[in-house]
Amino acid sequence: MPLIDRSFLKFGFILRRNILNHNVEMIPSGASAAVLQPSEPVPSDAVSVKGPNFEKSHTLQDFLGTYSRIGFQAQSLGKAIEIRKWRLSDDPVAEDELEEFTSNEVRSQIKCNVFLGYTSNLISSGLREIFLYLVKHKHVSAIVTTAGGIEEDFIKCLGQTYLADFHLDGADLRKRGMNRIGNLVVPNDNYCKFEDWLMPILDTMLQEQKETGEVWSPRSFIRRLGKEVNNEESVYYWAYKNDIPVFCPALTDGSIGDMIYFHSFKSPGLILDIVRDIRELNELSRTSRKAGMIVLGGGVCKHQIANAMLIRNGADYSVFINTGQEFDGSDSGARPDEAVSWGKIRADAQAVKVYADATLVFPLLVAGTFASGD
Ligand SMILES: NC(=O)c1ccc[n+]([C@@H]2O[C@H](COP(=O)([O-])OP(=O)(O)OC[C@H]3O[C@@H](n4cnc5c(N)ncnc54)[C@H](O)[C@@H]3O)[C@@H](O)[C@H]2O)c1
Repeated sequence: MPLIDRSFLKFGFILRRNILNHNVEMIPSGASAAVLQPSEPVPSDAVSVKGPNFEKSHTLQDFLGTYSRIGFQAQSLGKAIEIRKWRLSDDPVAEDELEEFTSNEVRSQIKCNVFLGYTSNLISSGLREIFLYLVKHKHVSAIVTTAGGIEEDFIKCLGQTYLADFHLDGADLRKRGMNRIGNLVVPNDNYCKFEDWLMPILDTMLQEQKETGEVWSPRSFIRRLGKEVNNEESVYYWAYKNDIPVFCPALTDGSIGDMIYFHSFKSPGLILDIVRDIRELNELSRTSRKAGMIVLGGGVCKHQIANAMLIRNGADYSVFINTGQEFDGSDSGARPDEAVSWGKIRADAQAVKVYADATLVFPLLVAGTFASGD
């Protein structure tokens, strides 16, 4: 609530002018009561609005610390940055605690499991390098994304994605063999290179499936591609190295699906088992001491993680960054409170939604948390 009402200032100005003009009249009592409605006392813990002061120099962390008092979405980002980094040592040792988890040394090493979700376009953007950082340094325990979020990482190991413009003409781009993702473009050649790379791997995977009888799942498929790419610039190379599971329930909705489709004519029989993956994802959630979700964008990546949180009676913390709105009833646009009603976020959890393009906000969030060195 503003401490000073602007209409009050305007009213005071008119009154002063009237006095100077020796034209003093009585203020109508109804009007003065309406405008000068007294405030309740402001609670002692109320925080006033304040922006950064560029008259002095700031470290990055000082600067990010100012967000929480700016208001609007900056305030939500500030809250997302402040969400506590839990360690098992923060909780008292339970009476029925396992022996191996009783020492403070061990307990201080056990962190909240972070389930990270992002839409496909974000791997096409430069957020890919931030995901890579988080996976390489084991800041996340599991990833959920959509098919483009898998293939575009590997494709970037074979060719570049370029900065372009939202307004490029689609028909002209089509003629020139260029594909647009927002204000980025990807040459068709990159997908040809991807096909050349993937097809022999599909042959080998099918062969192994036939020899051992063991079927693949989207998660084990992605893991295998991460091993095969053998490139430190790939998010999924690091996920393979660090054994961080990557789930993609709709793996076929993209170029990978096209390749699997073509491959199935030449060499039918490859099986991807989604039952195995939902079991692994839900079990990881159920057995986490604490679980938090950080989800950029909406759709499958948002709901699949939230749904896994239901198995453990809700996430312990939750950060959503997306542009979705709730008026249409979409899950993409739903605020954390809707997930509380389903048991996907605990009622006492710290939860925030930042309404923003994730490419603007996520670098700041990571700079203020995982990459801050504390
Ligand atoms: N580059 C691509 O986007 C791409 C490539 C290949 C396949 N696909 C397929 O298209 C389908 C739909 O894609 P999807 O489910 O990944 O997401 P989507 O692109 O449909 O986005 C879902 C919602 O997330 C939010 N969102 C998206 N980008 C955001 C951003 N930058 N900041 C904040 N919020 C954002 C919006 O509310 C959006 O409605 C998937 O099956 C995917 O595999 C996409």
